[in-house]
Amino acid sequence: MEELGKLITENQTIIASLGVAAITVAVFRRWKAGGRCLSKARLDGKTVIITGANTGIGKETAVDLANRGARVILACRDKSRGENALADVIKRTGSKQVVLKSLDLASLESVRKFAQDINKTEPRINILLNNAGVMMCPYMKTSDGFEMQFGTNHLGHFLLTNLLLEKIKRSAPARIINVSSLAHTFTTKINYDKIKDEKSYSRIEAYAQSKLANILFSRELSRRLQGTGVTVNSLHPGSVATELGRYFPGFTILYPTLSLFFKSPWEGAQTNIHCAVEESLENVTGKYFSDCAVVQESKAARDDEAAKSLWEMSAKMVGIQQ
Ligand SMILES: *[C@@H]1O[C@H](CO)[C@@H](O)[C@H](O)[C@H]1NC(C)=O
Ligand SMILES: *[C@@H]1O[C@H](CO)[C@@H](O)[C@H](O)[C@H]1NC(C)=O
Ligand SMILES: *[C@@H]1O[C@H](CO)[C@@H](O)[C@H](O)[C@H]1NC(C)=O
Repeated sequence: MEELGKLITENQTIIASLGVAAITVAVFRRWKAGGRCLSKARLDGKTVIITGANTGIGKETAVDLANRGARVILACRDKSRGENALADVIKRTGSKQVVLKSLDLASLESVRKFAQDINKTEPRINILLNNAGVMMCPYMKTSDGFEMQFGTNHLGHFLLTNLLLEKIKRSAPARIINVSSLAHTFTTKINYDKIKDEKSYSRIEAYAQSKLANILFSRELSRRLQGTGVTVNSLHPGSVATELGRYFPGFTILYPTLSLFFKSPWEGAQTNIHCAVEESLENVTGKYFSDCAVVQESKAARDDEAAKSLWEMSAKMVGIQQ
């Protein structure tokens, strides 16, 4: 009798422990999934450009916005990977309004060509999602001789945004969204001299500077666009298990394990989607988002003087009028 009682309590303990473990896992999974975009807004008749849309959160965002009726332009560098993404987005949405265009943000010439093509062929641009990025790559240069991460993540998008700006303004209400990162907090200021040479190059510093630049630019641009009906915001998508991590040693082996702890691309796309469609954000500009909510960026990212001087430096680097 006593034996049986003990057995029952032991079983109960095991069941209870399993229950607690299951709840813990569920709570952890929900927590790491972060915020969700709850808006049901439709985008019929609107045109969206997403850079780096061939994988990860760019592609998930494309699927979501296409499902809302938007015309979605996937701006991708690699042709065959872009074509795979296009086929996948069309298959998942049934949309006939998804197109692929070639854009290499590491080449100012490619950015100019893309912008000209869009300017000529698209009557409007309502949402520009500057999403493409390289993360922590070894020292490399863009076609124009700039450090790769600063050159792609910041300068390429800087030129693109500026070249499309007239059309975006004419399409107002419009939104420009920059995918930045929490990594912007890893540095305290933009100092291009520190990352431009191989000798002093640090992968993390260069990535952090490029992401700080994204936020400073959103800030300066939102100031310049006050009253135009065009809003500009930046965001941190969260730690997402995507191919962005491809430069980390052991990435391929670790990937399946990592995805347990990081957000899925769908989860990581939620803040993108929120900033692109949420109706209550119609007049919200110059802000930084994480998990579908406004959060405060680092002190360095709130420095208006730094934002202005970065704008001037970048305009010189890409050769446009300030
Ligand atoms: C996005 O970032 C790029 C590069 O930092 C910048 O040139 C552009 O103005 C920014 N746009 C917005 C909307 O923040
Ligand atoms: C876009 O096209 C308009 C005329 O349709 C032209 O005035 C403008 O310069 C063009 N902008 C770019 C960046 O090519
Ligand atoms: C945004 O501003 C416009 C013009 O001031 C106003 O009509 C509209 O209601 C505002 N939208 C929101 C969501 O606050």
